[in-house]
Amino acid sequence: MAKLVIVNTDGAEKEVEVKSGFSVMEAIRDNGFDELLALCGGCCSCATCHVIVDPAFADKLPKMSEDENDLLDSSDHRVETSRLSCQIKMSDALDGLKVTIAEAD
Ligand code: FES
Repeated sequence: MAKLVIVNTDGAEKEVEVKSGFSVMEAIRDNGFDELLALCGGCCSCATCHVIVDPAFADKLPKMSEDENDLLDSSDHRVETSRLSCQIKMSDALDGLKVTIAEAD
């Protein structure tokens, strides 16, 4: 289990425990955040699971694929630490990860 801190678009924070191997998108969705649409279900084809990662964790995340990068480019709200949350699998190394749900495009 790893701790994940989720910040919604209003700035409210919630701390949850996530089993290793589950994606950040699944953790957000399963904890009642309905502003994260995650329309493609985690297939890396919709970009509606966009989150902004705490810069302190940027180096610990899995490398971004070309598909993820292209999808993020289509967002008007992309910032330096933007990621698609379905592409981040939780692990002990990410314990304490903090993500903010990005504004919808
Ligand atoms: S859920 Fe569609 S890209 Fe992540």
